Amino acid sequence: MTLLEIFPSLRSGMLSPRLDATIWPCETHYDDLGRITIGGVALADIADQYGTPVYVLDESEVRRRCRAYRKYFPDAEIIYAAKALLTKSVAAWVAEEGLSVDVCSGGELAIALAAGVDPQRIMLHGSGKPFAELEAAVHAGVGRIVVDSITEITLLAAVATRPQQVLLRLSPDIDVHGHPAVRTGVADQKFGFPLGSVAAVDAIDRIMRQPMLELVGLHCHLGSQIHDPDFYGEAVRRLIAEMSRVRAEYGRTLPQLDLGGGHAVAYRCGDAEMNLPVLADIVEDSLDAACALNHFPRPQISLEPGRAIVARAGVTLYRVMAVKHVEGGHTFVIADGGMNDNPRVALYGARYDAVVANRHPTGPHMTATVAGRYCEAGDILAADVSLPADLRPGEVLAVPCTGAYHHSLASTYNGVGRPPIISVRNGRCHEQIRRETSADLLARDLG
Ligand code: LLP
Repeated sequence: MTLLEIFPSLRSGMLSPRLDATIWPCETHYDDLGRITIGGVALADIADQYGTPVYVLDESEVRRRCRAYRKYFPDAEIIYAAKALLTKSVAAWVAEEGLSVDVCSGGELAIALAAGVDPQRIMLHGSGKPFAELEAAVHAGVGRIVVDSITEITLLAAVATRPQQVLLRLSPDIDVHGHPAVRTGVADQKFGFPLGSVAAVDAIDRIMRQPMLELVGLHCHLGSQIHDPDFYGEAVRRLIAEMSRVRAEYGRTLPQLDLGGGHAVAYRCGDAEMNLPVLADIVEDSLDAACALNHFPRPQISLEPGRAIVARAGVTLYRVMAVKHVEGGHTFVIADGGMNDNPRVALYGARYDAVVANRHPTGPHMTATVAGRYCEAGDILAADVSLPADLRPGEVLAVPCTGAYHHSLASTYNGVGRPPIISVRNGRCHEQIRRETSADLLARDLG
């Protein structure tokens, strides 16, 4: 008999190394029954009540991350990148915490507006914004639109009936060496205009000639999962030099510089993540130096974190469907979710941890691969993780750090509806998004 079995109360408040605070919400504990709790709610209870798979979202963790950004960047505008995760409640939380919201479609715009976000604090992005969405944004009175193409300048000029603030997206040719799918700072990619290119000069020129478009700043987004803050220092240097050139050419001092998002989070213990105070120092120092060098007044800095606000607040729960020991091969734990609720493994080769949530395992462990239920061999959730050797069907698995780009990337492959989002706070649950049913899928099928 172990000490924990004799004194179950030792478990509460105890964080085992498997529940490392860098990948789990701060309010993650084991309760007296050995079950993992978040925000005071046992994950196994959520699985029982709402079914599995299910996304759990810790409201306090989202708010804590917003506050961390505001603390370390007191003078900057923090614009939450809604593409990471957007529900009406999430939009309301981040707005209450003083963040603005970046949306990249008419759908995201509608959700932010429905949540009561002040349109002036909404920024619209997108590499191919349809005319109707530009129109909706302008009519809603969104604060700023980030221009991504020449066509868009023409469309915007046609739609704007009052002055519309815009930023121009430039790629500063900074290679953060990330996954090719999310490397956006290099010159040769689809977003914006390469800094210093003929096309970029032309775009600035065209915006300046449109009476209803007011160019207020430059924008760049270097990529995803960036943990080296020096890349942002380099972006500041290159973009301030360009802002100085614009001033020399047009006599206009652009007041805003948006450095995009991309701040890395840890998905597994030991993964590198962005250090916010260090990033703040580097942005500050490079801004001082670049502004002094170019005799340019300090612009207002904006940052657009998405993942770093919500990733760690989310945990996905699955029920174990089967455990298979392949002779001479892997042990597969088959979960009742997979690539529909987490396509990041198949898309980017992302790696995750998985732990059993309905009991605190104290016995021997096995190395296993958690695979999904979908009809593809690549439907893997967590490869080579350590799980209890006596894991049984029906037990609940929790995969941490699934708050960003999980629900927002989810699909209905194999005719399986998307999971619900249940937020937790102070021991209570709130069903934010309900499970998508077969009836929902059939409702779109007009026969
Ligand atoms: N700003 C812009 C203009 C962006 O395009 C993005 C992300 C962000 C901000 C927020 O980046 P974050 O801080 O969340 O890294 N599906 C991929 C990520 C795609 C990111 C696209 N743009 C993934 O799951 O890793």
